[in-house]
Amino acid sequence: MTTRRSIIAGNWKMNTSLDEAVSLASQVVEGAAEFDGVDRILIPPFPWIIPVRDALSGSGITVGAQTCYHEDSGAFTGEVSPTMLAPLCSHVVLGHSERRHILGEDDAAVAARLEAVLRTSLSPILCVGETLEEREAGNANAVVERQLRSALAGITQADMSRVVIAYEPVWAIGTGVAASADDAQEMAAFVRSTIGALHGSTAGDGVQIQYGGSVKSSNAEELMACPDVDGALVGGASLDAGEFVAIIRAAAAGG
Ligand code: 13P
Repeated sequence: MTTRRSIIAGNWKMNTSLDEAVSLASQVVEGAAEFDGVDRILIPPFPWIIPVRDALSGSGITVGAQTCYHEDSGAFTGEVSPTMLAPLCSHVVLGHSERRHILGEDDAAVAARLEAVLRTSLSPILCVGETLEEREAGNANAVVERQLRSALAGITQADMSRVVIAYEPVWAIGTGVAASADDAQEMAAFVRSTIGALHGSTAGDGVQIQYGGSVKSSNAEELMACPDVDGALVGGASLDAGEFVAIIRAAAAGG
């Protein structure tokens, strides 16, 4: 059986001033440097990537990016490329629901970004998840499967081993209402079997799967205890160092 490392990432979204970002990173180092059995990633807004990386120096906690474009360079005003991020970051989030639903990224755009990221040393965190309407219509699995196949069907098995999946049901993001542990487990198992079908059982067994959507210290233990959930992609609660460290502690204990 594969032993998977737990992986906790804090997606700060479009929050924090420079001072707040550096202070938050320093507090997370203080509280979470000891949990080196867990992959720990802070994902600040683009302008704070370098100061946050500097604040994390030597801690074993890495920095990530919230998105990137699919070209390496050129006349793409406002965009940031994977090759720019690769010397600074360990991970880059792709296909976050806010990118898909507010900023209009479709499956093809996400797939192109993933392919570009895999040409660098970065690990993509591919976000998938259904809306409330899709869940209520009984289409949650079909939506997640479509998102996974679109991004992952064309990549190699070797590249698949660098991909992290974040299952983030849209209805649970920022609402305070997390998926139940049963629902999170059920979808994580479905994601694992879909990846097994695409790239073989070793890939399915090995892939790190995060749950995201209203994760906080009070529900982390239960969610991290799910056998197919390997960690969390945390939004709001990652802006509070005490909360975020408690979630990392839950992953260290449960993973
Ligand atoms: P919340 O934890 O604020 O619900 O956000 C989840 C998320 O979108 C992480 O990427």
